[in-house]
Amino acid sequence: MFSFVKKPQSAALAFLIAGAVWFVVGALYGMVSAIHLVAPEFFSNIPFLVFGRERPIHVNTMLYGFTGTMLTGCGLYYLPALLRTRLYSEPLAWLSFLFWNLTVASGPLGFSFAYTQGREYNEYIWIADISLILAVVLLIYNLIMTIVQRTEQQLYVSVWYFVASFLWTAGNYPISNVVWHPSTGAMPGLIDSIFLWFWGHNLPGLLITPLATGAAYFVIPRITRTPLNSHTLSLAGFWFLVALYTHIGGHHVLQSPIPNWLKTVSVVDSIAMVVPVSIVVLNLWMTARQEGRRVWGDPAGRLVMGGIVWYLITCIQGPLQSLPYLQRVTHFNNWTVGHAHIAMLGFGGYIALGAMWHILPLVSGREIYSQRLVSLQFGLITFGLTAFFLVLTTAGLIQGSAWNNGETVYRVLPEIAPFMISRAASGIFILTGSLIGLYNLYLTLRQGRELQPVELLRAEDAS
Ligand code: HEM
Ligand code: HEM
Repeated sequence: MFSFVKKPQSAALAFLIAGAVWFVVGALYGMVSAIHLVAPEFFSNIPFLVFGRERPIHVNTMLYGFTGTMLTGCGLYYLPALLRTRLYSEPLAWLSFLFWNLTVASGPLGFSFAYTQGREYNEYIWIADISLILAVVLLIYNLIMTIVQRTEQQLYVSVWYFVASFLWTAGNYPISNVVWHPSTGAMPGLIDSIFLWFWGHNLPGLLITPLATGAAYFVIPRITRTPLNSHTLSLAGFWFLVALYTHIGGHHVLQSPIPNWLKTVSVVDSIAMVVPVSIVVLNLWMTARQEGRRVWGDPAGRLVMGGIVWYLITCIQGPLQSLPYLQRVTHFNNWTVGHAHIAMLGFGGYIALGAMWHILPLVSGREIYSQRLVSLQFGLITFGLTAFFLVLTTAGLIQGSAWNNGETVYRVLPEIAPFMISRAASGIFILTGSLIGLYNLYLTLRQGRELQPVELLRAEDAS
């Protein structure tokens, strides 16, 4: 009855499909949240659609459901491909799929009815935390056993990033979610903000960033059909990330009374992050330099390269906003929300989508139904996100400078209302992009031309 769970690459495909579905769900909740910031009375008196509930559903569904799930699906394909072996256990990967998606589903199903721990990025209730930890532990076992039985000796950098993201998550997630206190999932008092931001930072930093970087390192050399510019540099970038990104979560709470040494470490190493980021961007740019037309001419390559461009912008902005003086203007307002979107959608989301479109034919054995729709998705999301970012950054600067000058919050609200309306409008483009993506995925699986075994072998061989 469950024979499909043994089919090679079936779990990878399931993760890719689920990622595309969660993208639509997350975008719908994002749209409703954006509308509520413009018209609070919209859908009023519907308890499961109040801002305080739909916002965390949006955020968690996007991070774990869309980018996290889709990038995991990509890795479940490229890790065995790069190691020239099969995934150790397909049924085990399906179990991870089940536990992971149960956690993601507990967002819309649970938060809507106030089943939440109410700590940003750590909202899932205890039982959902356990489900996510189980998914991760099973994945780690599966990946390590795949590495053990590999026939390719060299561990390409994507393998390092993919495995490391789950090893970090297995350690960081339970600590930050205080799983030994099931009833609250929290520490008492101020210390809780340090615990909370440990994962609040490491979710983008040590789960999404390594997953996206690993996928980009896989896709770009395949599209350019050239070897990676430098393996040594790629591994140096990985170890710099380990040395710096693991302990800078304090930059989220610089405006609160956490210990000064923690603030100093986080600010200094936030700035030093320029090193690993430059390594990734330069290494991929050098790889694609001679074959720019191939990358930008391929809709999937365009998404991945676009993701790298957003990564560069995010990581120029990031160290700057880690400076305490600058943060007095940019903290506690829409500036940070702008940063969060170019980071999570621009960097993580673009690479997830690009890698998904590149890998989908390899796991499904079918040609993409419409490359034009992939290009359209790229165009819509790029327009929507650019507008989103400009609007939120400007609104943030208005709020920040007003508050810095002692103005009260409510008097600034009328001034930022046009920006909130523009943000909701630009969200429509992103939502449409997510719907078009799901439609194209569905048609690929239903009607995409079946690839001949020879074509498939040739495509796989490029790994
Ligand atoms: C349809 C498109 C989208 C709309 C309309 C939208 C809207 C929103 C809104 C209204 C918020 C709350 C902001 C606030 O509290 O002031 C938010 C937060 C957030 N969204 Fe989106 N969003 C969209 C797409 C995305 C995507 C695709 C991602 C990630 C892949 C994402 C990630 C986030 C994150 C991480 C936050 C928290 C930001 C923070 O606390 O600084 N959003 N979004
Ligand atoms: C060198 C790189 C980076 C640095 C130094 C950096 C720095 C920061 C700082 C200081 C904040 C807090 C701003 C505030 O609250 O005032 C922040 C917020 C955020 N960053 Fe970054 N960032 C970097 C890259 C990234 C990347 C690559 C991602 C995603 C993969 C990301 C995702 C986020 C998110 C989602 C938030 C919003 C958190 C919230 O809800 O308040 N950042 N970043």
